[in-house]
Amino acid sequence: MSAVVETNSLTKRYHEKLAVNALNLTIEEGEIFGFLGPNGAGKTTTILMLLGLTEPTSGKASVCGFDPTLDPLEVKRRVGYLPENPGFYEDLSARENLLYMARLNRIPEEEARRRTAEVLDQVGLGEDGRRLVKEYSRGMKQRLGIAEVLVKKPVAVILDEPTLGIDPDGAIRILELIRSLNRERNLTVMLSSHALQQVQEICSRVGIIVKGRLIVQGQMDELGRAILKERQWNFLLEVGGGANGLENDLRGINGIDEIEKRSHGLFLRCTRDVRAEVMALIARKNLPLLQLRSEDPTLEEIYLKYFREA
Ligand SMILES: Nc1ncnc2c1ncn2[C@@H]1O[C@H](COP(=O)(O)OP(=O)(O)O)[C@@H](O)[C@H]1O
Ligand SMILES: [Mg+2]
Repeated sequence: MSAVVETNSLTKRYHEKLAVNALNLTIEEGEIFGFLGPNGAGKTTTILMLLGLTEPTSGKASVCGFDPTLDPLEVKRRVGYLPENPGFYEDLSARENLLYMARLNRIPEEEARRRTAEVLDQVGLGEDGRRLVKEYSRGMKQRLGIAEVLVKKPVAVILDEPTLGIDPDGAIRILELIRSLNRERNLTVMLSSHALQQVQEICSRVGIIVKGRLIVQGQMDELGRAILKERQWNFLLEVGGGANGLENDLRGINGIDEIEKRSHGLFLRCTRDVRAEVMALIARKNLPLLQLRSEDPTLEEIYLKYFREA
């Protein structure tokens, strides 16, 4: 087994605040690992520890076989890092920024020029490479950030909130880019995000961190089944007219666990298929049924469930 990232009880305390609490994380070679959690959960702090940019209070991390606290340079040589707010030289072109980065990494000049052109193409900025960075949109800058990370040909990349502040189309382009880099070059990717709906699709595995604690970790498709097994049935119910007392009557149906008001109708979290009873109730109350549809548990569900309980 060759885990790219492995942590053992990794902990970071800022004064009395536990930012990261005994984290056990494994990221295998070749996967896209989504490190998901709300703002303030401890994602960035974890990433900084993985890169040796801040020291753990206790516990250990191993990245590409090195301890980032002891060998930060070995880690840096192998792992590309895109910070939450990457900075560039705004008065230089994208290409010049990349060349500068390549020189910092001691890549020989000719090789640096070759790689710069290559990564600009890869991230879809081939045509814009000679434009000044200050003319770039936020999405373009983010792609430039990814290009910069790729210049040193890393075996793995850690991207902190790569879609933050980018419009939906731009975010999709970035996620597609990440997916293609993973597929075509077997690049191991760890990406953090608080927008799980947005990124979950490209992740092969995710870990969800809330208030410093990793609450679940697993394969996307297994997660829904394993974690929500007691609440596998979700329905959205919408009726026309005055739904007087409907909620109360629904509560009387055995198997309906929770009722939540949505903008359109009621969301029912159930332990079994209650559709027949719900239909009968609606008919009895003589209400026009607009919809009753089953909704599969999404990662959002898992997240909210734990978010509430954390
Ligand atoms: N340098 C710091 N000093 C004190 N507290 C910090 C520092 N950095 C982060 N924190 C706190 O640690 C917690 C986790 O922060 P962070 O890792 O940035 O979360 P995320 O990236 O998931 O939004 C937050 O409560 C934050 O306020
Ligand atoms: Mg963060």
